[in-house]
Amino acid sequence: NLQMGEEIDRCGLRREICRAKGAAPGSKVAILGAAGGIGQPLALLMKMNPLVSVLHLYDVVNTPGVTADISHMDTGAVVRGFLGQAQLEDALTGMDLVIIPAGVPRKPGMTRDDLFNINAGIVKTLCEAIAKCCPNAIVNLISNPVNSTVPIAAEVFKKAGTFDPKRLLGVTMLDVVRANTFVAEVLGLDPRDVDVPVVGGHAGVTILPLLSQVKPACSFTDKEIDYLTDRIQNGGTEVVEAKAGAGSATLSMAYAAVKFADACLRGLRGDAGIVECAFVASQVTELPFFASKVRLGRGGVEEIYPLGPLNEYERVGLDKAKKELATSIQKGVSFIRK
Ligand code: NAI
Repeated sequence: NLQMGEEIDRCGLRREICRAKGAAPGSKVAILGAAGGIGQPLALLMKMNPLVSVLHLYDVVNTPGVTADISHMDTGAVVRGFLGQAQLEDALTGMDLVIIPAGVPRKPGMTRDDLFNINAGIVKTLCEAIAKCCPNAIVNLISNPVNSTVPIAAEVFKKAGTFDPKRLLGVTMLDVVRANTFVAEVLGLDPRDVDVPVVGGHAGVTILPLLSQVKPACSFTDKEIDYLTDRIQNGGTEVVEAKAGAGSATLSMAYAAVKFADACLRGLRGDAGIVECAFVASQVTELPFFASKVRLGRGGVEEIYPLGPLNEYERVGLDKAKKELATSIQKGVSFIRK
């Protein structure tokens, strides 16, 4: 004597249980801000990732539509949608990895820091829920300004008593992706064969490509170094201006976010030798947070690598980067401690 609604619910539930049983073992991943410009293509790409068994899509708008759409893809991950603050805790419970692209993007003429006032509060709320519902999850933080939102997240987790510096990672992968692409163009190589370490942070001069450490080993003229450094540091602005008010990088960012999340998931699975750049709590410099190469493993960040030998150009860049980073980090910390 089931009511119509109940019957549909039960059918849906049965289908989900069957699919969950049939699905390969994998990780449970939540995307917060899943209906946005980054969130949608990120959800699409994570649904295609064989390491994901369950995919939770959370946003304050439009998740039912995005979830219905993505859920029709014939890949393994079971997809569930969550809409609005009342469903945030359900979205997070049991998650292994939480990816956060929630918040407003830049418009032409804006810096990432101009987003602070809106995004700081969003990140705070989301991290409070993470501390409560999945304190052991790895967090990939994309929302800008990353140089301040990562310190905000750390402070929220410290307050809740759940902070584990190995599990909080600011996503700077797009800077590496851009650096690989632009350097490959200059060298006439396939970008897949190029590896450029990018350290520091994720805004303007804090984005510090280490062109002296590019693999394969190569050399650049002074003019090429100026051109590449400037283009890598301002790659985001190049996209913001080309989109002319319609937002910032979303497609290349979704690609970069998935590349990074996949590395985290392979680390969680126990794969060896997974090394990527990320903005993390660090002792590589005197600053409490810094982006550099890290080794990812079952616990998240297993090892943080030193910067390696820098040339004079990079040492000058590092000094500039550290000055700006110190201010941005402090701004994030004060937002929670005030
Ligand atoms: P968008 O505006 O297209 O999407 C943001 C989504 O977040 C929207 O769907 C919105 O409803 C949602 N949202 C707002 N408040 C929320 C809340 N409290 N809880 C959950 N969801 C909420 O923006 P887009 O282009 O997707 O960018 C998102 C963020 O990523 C921006 O802060 C942007 O600056 C940043 N970003 C970071 C990059 C990086 O390299 N780390 C690169 C590009 C963008």
